[in-house]
Amino acid sequence: MCGIVGAVAQNNVIPILIEGLKRLEYRGYDSCGIAVHLDRKLQRSRSTSRVADLEKQLATSGLTGFTGIAHTRWATHGAPVTHNAHPHFSRDRIALVHNGIIENHDDLRAELQALGYVFESQTDTEVIAHLVDHMYTGDLFETVQQAIKRLTGAYAIAVFSADEPHRVVAARQGSPLIVGLGDGQNFVASDAMAIAGTTDQIIYLEEGDVVDLQLQRVWIVDVNGRSVEREVKTVQAYSSAVELGPYQHYMQKEIFEQPRAIADTLEGVVNIMPELFGDKAFSVFQQIDSVLILACGTSYYAGLTAKYWLESVAKIPANVEIASEYRYRDSVPNPNTLVVTITQSGETADTLAAVKHARSLGMLHTLTICNAATSAMVRECALAYITRAGVEVGVASTKAFTTQLVGLFLLTLAIAQSKNRLSEEQEQAHLKALRHLPAALQSVLALEPHIVAWAEAFARKENALFLGRGMHYPIALEGALKLKEITYIHAEAYAAGELKHGPLALVTEEMPVVTIAPNDTLIEKLKSNMQEVRARGGQLYVFADADSHISPSEGVHVIRLPENYGLLSPILHVVPLQLLAYHTALARGTDVDKPRNLAKSVTVE
Ligand code: M6R
Repeated sequence: MCGIVGAVAQNNVIPILIEGLKRLEYRGYDSCGIAVHLDRKLQRSRSTSRVADLEKQLATSGLTGFTGIAHTRWATHGAPVTHNAHPHFSRDRIALVHNGIIENHDDLRAELQALGYVFESQTDTEVIAHLVDHMYTGDLFETVQQAIKRLTGAYAIAVFSADEPHRVVAARQGSPLIVGLGDGQNFVASDAMAIAGTTDQIIYLEEGDVVDLQLQRVWIVDVNGRSVEREVKTVQAYSSAVELGPYQHYMQKEIFEQPRAIADTLEGVVNIMPELFGDKAFSVFQQIDSVLILACGTSYYAGLTAKYWLESVAKIPANVEIASEYRYRDSVPNPNTLVVTITQSGETADTLAAVKHARSLGMLHTLTICNAATSAMVRECALAYITRAGVEVGVASTKAFTTQLVGLFLLTLAIAQSKNRLSEEQEQAHLKALRHLPAALQSVLALEPHIVAWAEAFARKENALFLGRGMHYPIALEGALKLKEITYIHAEAYAAGELKHGPLALVTEEMPVVTIAPNDTLIEKLKSNMQEVRARGGQLYVFADADSHISPSEGVHVIRLPENYGLLSPILHVVPLQLLAYHTALARGTDVDKPRNLAKSVTVE
């Protein structure tokens, strides 16, 4: 992961770099640092705390510079301590920041140590800094092009030399990197958001590109060293969208934004039509005979939910695979499969690699449900549906998940329609239910005070179980992920019928068991599973539809959702689980928006 930002300007670049780092903290926040070029010398400041701390450090030191690079780290090689924080220096001549993993770092380190280089860190990054220094010809652009030929793995790097003021060279292979074009100043960053407000003229570098950034020119060469022109895109600045407003945390804000996010995602959906997913969608949907969904984490759980919809409404076989597993296993490719990726960021390395793997196996029909219109995934897939959740800052995904579900439900309907499996009447009924979602969500959000009361009890626990059945089983999985992610409580989810096959052994009077109880065809079976828990003394915390006929009793705590929402019920039932995790985290005093060890965008394998 990690975030990179670099600048060549005619003014002090520190404020731009600091602002960029703040906006890139979603990529990792184990440590951060800045290096600038000052009087033909390298100067740096690093912190193992957050960017705000680095900012204070810089204000005290008064460090300035017209050329600089900065980094926010998600630790891979080496603990999050100052000597492992980027930028890394080599012989006080080369400064370098890196996102990704260099797989042959051990061999290179041995080689460079034999040449007399002394390593100060455990990182793979320092290897690149010394390699660049060792190969330095006096022309950094030329040197970096040669040096990266020695690297195996994924990287985005930005580097400058004490000998060459007003020049930053950057390169990418497997990790994202953009160039921002300004007036007499130019930038490089992991994401356009880092420099939003400074420039909206963005170039998305391609795999293997190396860029030479100077004050008045930007020169790019491709993987073969040939000079190339890359398209300059005008990217809407969306920095204002990440203001916290009246909320205490971004996660809280994002939970409460869900009615708006879903309304925005549905904006423009007048009728169900395949073209919502792209011009060629109709012919693709007609040809396909199965769906393969590839995703990670929360997005994977969205995929698991969609499997129920695809098979019951569109009557098309659907498989859902964890992207990092799919790409490395032998599978039987079917060219008539629609490969669907689900990703909030559009930059998740495992999901990107998985779709490329599927294509390499001859599965060419690709579609993404993605929240980032200009992301690598949207560029990678033939068809796309862009969810309109808006920027999601909290590491724990909330509004991205519910808007993904909306996108996936629309996909189900569009496939069903293309295959003549959806009557006009059914289409209208589904559309009506979709349009009612924002109002229904408001009623669910109004349950917050009841959930706060439960959170106090959860905050004292170290374990929890989540139960669901049918299409609410993935919602149980998502609820457990939310709880463990931000409260550090060990939580596991089971399909309720599985309980008796092993996990029931965990149930004691100490065990809270969160149960998702919509009034669907499985409700009576679920009630039996709840009895199995109560008979062992387990404490049930039940989210039940109003008409589920589940009442509170000893050891059975019940919060009622206002209505049964049929096929779209998972979109409503996940919201109280998000609130439960949020308020439990508040009660435990954990870092809600930046939980330990995690990052928002997972751009390494
Ligand atoms: O950006 P993506 O949707 O591809 O991210 C996938 C997962 O890393 C992500 O959903 C993760 O599991 C969430 N932070 C969980 O809340």
